[in-house]
Amino acid sequence: MCGIVAYVGSKDAAPILLEGLQRLEYRGYDSAGVVVSNKGLKLRKVKGRVADLAKVMPARFKGGLGIGHTRWATHGVPSDLNAHPHLSTDERIAVVHNGIIENADELRAKLVADGVAFVSETDTEVLAHLIARTAEETETLEEAVRKALKSIVGTYGIAVIDAQRPGEVVVARNGSPIVLGIGEKEMFAASDVAALVRYTRQVVHLEDGELAVLKADGFHTFASDARETAKEPLTVDWEAGHYDTGGYEHYLLKEISEQPDTVSRTMRGRLDERFHIAHLGGLNMDARETRSFRRVKIIGCGSAYYSGQIGAQLIEELARIPADAEPASEFRYRNPVVDPDTLYVAISQSGETYDTLAAVQELKRKGGRVIGIVNAVGSAIAREVDGGVYLHAGPEVSVASTKAFTSTSLAFALLALHFGRVHDLSPADGRRICEGLRRLPGQIEEILAQGDKIAELAQKYAKYPSMMFVGRVRGYPVAREGAQKLKEISYVHAEAYPASELKHGPLALIGPEMPTVAIVPDDELLDKNLTTLGEIRARGGQVLMVGHREPDAKLADDVIVVPRNEIELDPILLTIPLQLLAYHAAVALGRDVDKPRNLAKSVTVE
Ligand code: F6R
Repeated sequence: MCGIVAYVGSKDAAPILLEGLQRLEYRGYDSAGVVVSNKGLKLRKVKGRVADLAKVMPARFKGGLGIGHTRWATHGVPSDLNAHPHLSTDERIAVVHNGIIENADELRAKLVADGVAFVSETDTEVLAHLIARTAEETETLEEAVRKALKSIVGTYGIAVIDAQRPGEVVVARNGSPIVLGIGEKEMFAASDVAALVRYTRQVVHLEDGELAVLKADGFHTFASDARETAKEPLTVDWEAGHYDTGGYEHYLLKEISEQPDTVSRTMRGRLDERFHIAHLGGLNMDARETRSFRRVKIIGCGSAYYSGQIGAQLIEELARIPADAEPASEFRYRNPVVDPDTLYVAISQSGETYDTLAAVQELKRKGGRVIGIVNAVGSAIAREVDGGVYLHAGPEVSVASTKAFTSTSLAFALLALHFGRVHDLSPADGRRICEGLRRLPGQIEEILAQGDKIAELAQKYAKYPSMMFVGRVRGYPVAREGAQKLKEISYVHAEAYPASELKHGPLALIGPEMPTVAIVPDDELLDKNLTTLGEIRARGGQVLMVGHREPDAKLADDVIVVPRNEIELDPILLTIPLQLLAYHAAVALGRDVDKPRNLAKSVTVE
C-alpha cells in the first residue's frame, strides 16, 4: 500500500532511495518517484515500476537529502502526474505519503478557492500545499508539518522535505508504518525495515500520532502536541540477503521452497520433549490465566484469516475450547461484543494490516485480552497486543503469502498444544502431536520434491477459465487458501466450498469446463469426500485430488499424494501442493508472479 523511503546524510540520496524503493515495491507498483534537495528540489517520477524510474534518472542527480515513493493507487489513476512525490506550487515542499486522507476533497476545495492550482488527482497533493502554507508562518519544518496535520482526517505515513532546509526530513505516522534507521552520520526512514537493512540494523518504530525530525547526526521524536517522546532503538535480525531471490526465478518459489527451514524456525526451542508441551513465553500468560478463557476468537485478513480457520479447528480439537475465526475487516465494523472470557488472537504476517490493527485497537479499547501471531518483529500489531507468538519465518517479499501462512498454521498447532496440555490433552496425545510437528520439515521436503509433477498438472489445469476447490472440515480452509492462491497470482477464477455444500447449489456449475481440486485427507471423513468426488465425476467434472492415497481411478483424473501426519496437523501439509499448483499455473500463464495486478502486500489502508 505504497512504500516510502527517506535519506539524509553525506552520500548521494538517489541510489539509496532507488534501492530502498526496489525493496518496498511489494507494497505497490503503479508508479514511482524520488526528489532530492540540492539548491532546490529535483524531481523524477513515472508511471510504472522502480526499474522504469531508474531508466529516466539523469546521471547527475546529486543531493544528500531525498525522499522516494512507490505507489499503489487509491486517489487517481496510475500516471506520471499522480505519482509521488508531490510538490507545493512554489516547489519548496515535497511530500511522499502512504495512506488515505479522508477529508482531501474538502481541503482541496478550500485551497482551490484560495487560488491554489492542483496538478494531480491525489489526496496527497493537498498535504504539500497545506504544509507549504503553514511553513510560511512557522519557524521550523517540524512545526509546519505538525500544524498542517491537525487539519487532516485519515491515515498517513509521510516524509516531507523543504528546499529551504536542506539538512532535514520530517516524517509522521498515523495508521501507516514509519520505521527510522539509524546509520553512521546518516539517517533513514521507510515504510518497512526491508528498505533499511542494507544500511543499518538499528531501527525505531514510530507510533501513531508521532513525528520525527531526521538529520545526518541524529533524530528526535515528538507527539502531535509537540511533546518530545523517548524511543529505544531495536536491533532487527533480518538481513539484506533475506530480500534476494537466492537464485530462484521468483520470490514466491523461493519462499515456498524455504518452508522446511521456516517451519523449523517457528518451532525452534518451543517443543518440550519431556512433558510434551509447547513453550510460548511470549504469551505472557500463566497456567491459571490460560485456563480462564472459555472461548478463542481469531481475526485476520485474507490468507491470514484462512490460517485462522485452520487454527480454530486445531484449538477446538486439541484443547476442546470453542474457537472460531472471522475476517478482521468484518469484525471491526460490526461493533463486536467483547467478552472478558474470550481470548482474541490477531494474525498478521506484516503486522501492519490496517483492518487487523484497527480491530485490535477496538478490542483493547473495550478491555479485550488480545495476543498476536505475527511475523514482522516490532510491527504495529506486535506492539499493540498483550503478548503473542512470533513466526520467525523471515521476510516474505512475494505479494502472495506462502511461508507465513504455513508458519501461522504451525504457530496455531503450538498454541493448541499449549492450551490443550493446560486443559485436558493427555501426555500421550501431547507426545503424538509433538512427534507429528517434528516430522513436518521432512514431509514438506517430500512435497517439494513433487514440484515437476505439480508443474505439469498446473499446465493442464491452467487452461480452464475457472476452478472449484472443495474440502470438508479440516480440508475446507485448505481449499479456501488454495483458491485464493490460484486467483491472486494466476487470475484464474476459483471458488472454494465446503464439499458438503456442493449439492446445495454450486454443483450446478460442475461440468467438463469446471475442474475441481478436492482436498481429501485420510481422516474420518474420507468416505464422505469420496462420495462427493463421485458426484462431481457423474456430472462430467474433472477432479484433481490432493490427499494421502491414490483413490479408485474412477474418482479422480489426477492425484497429488501428500505424506500423512497426525490428522489434526494434516492441513499444514495439504496447503503446500496448492501453493505450487498456483505458482506453476501463474508461470504457465505468463503472469507477474511476485507482483500480481491490483494487489499490494501490506494493506495499510481500509
Ligand atoms: C494472500 C495474502 C493476503 C494477506 C492479507 C493479510 O496471499 O497475502 O491475503 O494474507 O492481506 O496480510 P497480513 O498477514 O500481513 O496481515
